[in-house]
Amino acid sequence: MEVGFVNHLEAKLGLPATNTVAFVCSSLMMFNTVVKELKLEGIKKQNIYSILERYMKCGIGKCLHSTIGQTLVCADGPVYTCKQIKTLGEQT
Ligand code: FES
Repeated sequence: MEVGFVNHLEAKLGLPATNTVAFVCSSLMMFNTVVKELKLEGIKKQNIYSILERYMKCGIGKCLHSTIGQTLVCADGPVYTCKQIKTLGEQT
């Protein structure tokens, strides 16, 4: 049994970077930390997914509260690749 932060466990898994897809659901701080570790392991940004649910309010595309750049998180997301999140201006 492992105890600690998940980003310390990634390296121990020995995942093959070429055919690994990661789904990261966490706080923004932990997301950035885990994504950084995944990139160091050689996993490409287009193979790392996350959700941007924290920006939703109405959830049906009416209030524009979920607008980030050119996207409405409630309508176009909430699941995005790390590469897409970076183009939206999110820190990754
Ligand atoms: S949450 Fe209102 S437009 Fe997306």
